[in-house]
Amino acid sequence: MTKKELNESTAYLQSKGFDKPEIGIVLGTGLGKLADQIEDPIVAHYNHIPFFPLATVEFHSGKLIYGTIEGKKVVVMQGRFHLYEGYDFIDVTYPIRVMHQLGIEKLFISNAAGAINLDFKKGDLMLIEDHINLQGGSPLAFKSVGEYGERFADMAEPYDVDMRQKLVAIAKNENITLRQGVYASVVGPQLETKAEYRMLGILGADAVGMSTVPEVIVANHLNLPIVAVSVLTDECDPDNLKPVNVEEIIEVANKAEPKMVKLFKELIKKI
Ligand code: HPA
Repeated sequence: MTKKELNESTAYLQSKGFDKPEIGIVLGTGLGKLADQIEDPIVAHYNHIPFFPLATVEFHSGKLIYGTIEGKKVVVMQGRFHLYEGYDFIDVTYPIRVMHQLGIEKLFISNAAGAINLDFKKGDLMLIEDHINLQGGSPLAFKSVGEYGERFADMAEPYDVDMRQKLVAIAKNENITLRQGVYASVVGPQLETKAEYRMLGILGADAVGMSTVPEVIVANHLNLPIVAVSVLTDECDPDNLKPVNVEEIIEVANKAEPKMVKLFKELIKKI
């Protein structure tokens, strides 16, 4: 990644009409439906954006969509890059930097995660209050990071308090159960062992997933306020662990999708 590459990616999108979006939104596994709510959409496939990470075969549908939701200009990432696909930390956070260069002032993130806190149930949504980075690296560990911001980025409050409070109020109003907790990020793609789930609970995690944290670190580095919500797709009970069923994970994420769409739409209205 160089500044010149970022500028070229940004210029390409601007030339397609991506004009000063206010909000960037990352849509996770099975949460793509918010994209259907975008008015006057302009679509840019990842594979067509200069210097964007090259999409894998199974990921050919990845695209950036620009348009308006609730009267606000948004840019939506439909599909994200994961470390488990072989991308590095710079790749997976490159789109965040591009959306920042386009002008976004806030970032919304969604993902699918496993519930470590067994008071939380499959299908619940969880507002991320804080995180634990267990991915063994950082998207800020590169030589020229000083050209992009403070090397020792502060992580005292990585998730914006005001937007979190707004989401809690919205959820209450809409009768949507919104848990709150700590998200631990792992590389994957293998799921965790019983011993690992037990460890994650002891460490203070309420949920575990394979994304989001690198994006949040970079957004903090760029002083972008973030709000992030997980769909809890499976219950990670080390004493009753059943083999993972990826189809079921996707099904649970899909079922929870309308709740996530509602929360995000209302939040867009209120900021
Ligand atoms: N572990 C890691 N990532 C996940 C899980 C899990 O149990 N469920 C959904 N994403």
